[in-house]
Amino acid sequence: MRMRAAVLEEFGEPLVVEELELTDPREGEALVRLVACGVCHTDLYTASGVDPSGYAPSVLGHEGGGVVEAVGPGVSSLAPGDHVVTLFSPQCGECVHCRDERTNLCLAIREQQNKGYLPDGSTRLRRDGEEIRHFMGTSTFAEYTVMPEIALAKIDPEAPLDRACLFACGLSTGLGAAINTAQVREGSTCVVFGAGMVGLGAVAGCRLRGAERIICVDLSEDRLGLATGQGATETMLGGDDVVDGGKIVSETDGFGADYTFEATGNVAVMRQAVESARMAWGLATMAGVAGKGETLDVIPRLLITGRRIAGSSFGGVKGRDGVPKLVDLYMRGEIDVDPFISHRIGLDDVNRGFELMDAQDGIRSVIEFN
Ligand SMILES: NC(=O)c1ccc[n+]([C@@H]2O[C@H](COP(=O)([O-])OP(=O)(O)OC[C@H]3O[C@@H](n4cnc5c(N)ncnc54)[C@H](O)[C@@H]3O)[C@@H](O)[C@H]2O)c1
Ligand SMILES: [Zn+2]
Ligand SMILES: [Zn+2]
Repeated sequence: MRMRAAVLEEFGEPLVVEELELTDPREGEALVRLVACGVCHTDLYTASGVDPSGYAPSVLGHEGGGVVEAVGPGVSSLAPGDHVVTLFSPQCGECVHCRDERTNLCLAIREQQNKGYLPDGSTRLRRDGEEIRHFMGTSTFAEYTVMPEIALAKIDPEAPLDRACLFACGLSTGLGAAINTAQVREGSTCVVFGAGMVGLGAVAGCRLRGAERIICVDLSEDRLGLATGQGATETMLGGDDVVDGGKIVSETDGFGADYTFEATGNVAVMRQAVESARMAWGLATMAGVAGKGETLDVIPRLLITGRRIAGSSFGGVKGRDGVPKLVDLYMRGEIDVDPFISHRIGLDDVNRGFELMDAQDGIRSVIEFN
């Protein structure tokens, strides 16, 4: 079929919206008509050329929500008409990691996905016979996409897809960091560094787990306002004095917080998250992605005295099981998604979505397809 998509032709250049050929889903794959898709930093990071693992030409986009239109042979868990959220982190249900409750890092299709191919090592995207690669296994800046069944989470068909698509990435990452990775205990004190999509999700996750105090730290007053809306009980402007000047420690009975979360991607802030975790049992969870080659500096004594550090990819959420449950929480009114959507744009405006993000104008631009 023919369809329109935003193609990364050359790193550092605007995406080009054009018609491409999309071939039929093969064994274990489904054709999805996109209804909405969030524009995320990871798309921009790859488009800019800074990401060393990026490839072009490719169709970017990974925060998709859509409807299954057709399925290939052997697909048993999806049918035409199903509403789905796309997963850059699949859940095959069979690999050693999928069978273990401790992780969501499915091993099934990583190698091909990292190279821009579907699991059988080929692409469904073509332009005049030329192969166009699939970004993150999703390629959702497009009217349609073909994806593996194991990378599509079937959600409540009543859930509006323009909101549900945000569960494809940052929101689930933040929620899951608090709910799955840290498993925040009721009554505890939490500090969340960063109030972007991920940090705000972590604030909401801490609230859902019954935290008593949730301190959110960011550089932007506007974003701290959003954090309050998601359940932060206190907010604080970020900077060196947050930890060195003793602000967090003095705010938390001299000990530090039971749980801290890093959602900025800055390694200096990661260090702050470790240093503001409480002695004896404080757990610092890293959700931010640092630049290539950067390292986290930690004084080992902090660990001997009981602090722990965890990393969290996609919030530890096993996508096919976990995303529908998070969407259900949203449908029950327990997660307020609307404040995250700052702009609604068409596919042709995808580059404006990048500009808005660069200018930190709002949390998410959502592309709507009609
Ligand atoms: N682990 C995962 O699976 C996963 C998934 C998605 C995104 N991420 C990563 O999570 C991070 C956050 O993503 P996002 O979409 O929320 O980004 P974002 O840029 O929207 O938000 C980051 C926030 O951090 C704040 N900030 C910057 N410096 C700070 C400081 N010194 N102190 C306090 N706050 C500071 C900014 O003001 C901003 O509000 C990024 O590194 C992203 O790559 C990780
Ligand atoms: Zn993303
Ligand atoms: Zn697996």
